[in-house]
Amino acid sequence: MGLLLVPAGVYLYMRSGDAPVATSAPPVPFERFLAHTAMHATIERQEKPIHLAKPTDASLEAGAKLYRTDCAVCHGLPDQAPTPTAEGMYPRPPQFFRPHARKIDDPPGQVYWKVENGIRLTGMPAWRGSLSGAQARRITAFLEDGPSLPAPVTAVLEATPAKEKQKTKSKAGRLPRRG
Ligand code: HEC
Repeated sequence: MGLLLVPAGVYLYMRSGDAPVATSAPPVPFERFLAHTAMHATIERQEKPIHLAKPTDASLEAGAKLYRTDCAVCHGLPDQAPTPTAEGMYPRPPQFFRPHARKIDDPPGQVYWKVENGIRLTGMPAWRGSLSGAQARRITAFLEDGPSLPAPVTAVLEATPAKEKQKTKSKAGRLPRRG
């Protein structure tokens, strides 16, 4: 009988209309703790160590371009305020380029795992289907390099969309290749 009380209680709570569904709802006690415990346990079991080639300016620039296209809307750009998309999410996506942002110090295998598989119930997408393994590696190397990015790479992140468009036009209107 006692055993049934717990699932019945959880069910009633879910039916009560008080459980947090909106991203704007306040967190419930232990929500972060439980979510992160499950995430770390899964990643630790599934991650495979990966070897990243020593990044060159060119590979970091390619990573920066992919980051701008696919990640910046949520994870931000240097010297820019978080976008309304990022502000409206729960949990908030970490802003990788804010001053004092936590440096990504997880092993590359873990960052790569998150990029490939996404993080359920957070809005962090899985990129496995849309980025090649090489592209995901390039972004991982770029993120791991964090604050020590060389100037030409930072320039890619800081280029305004207008400048990018001009560059694209001069290539006879062809769409930029990802990569
Ligand atoms: C729609 C929004 C969104 C987009 C686009 C997005 N992310 Fe995320 N990402 C998130 C959120 C939200 C989290 C935080 C998840 C959490 O709290 O566990 C996250 C977490 C991460 C983390 C883990 C950070 C940490 O501190 O452990 C990495 C790494 C990451 N994202 C990389 C990327 C990369 C690379 C891209 C682009 C290819 C990307 N994300 C695109 C929303 C997004």
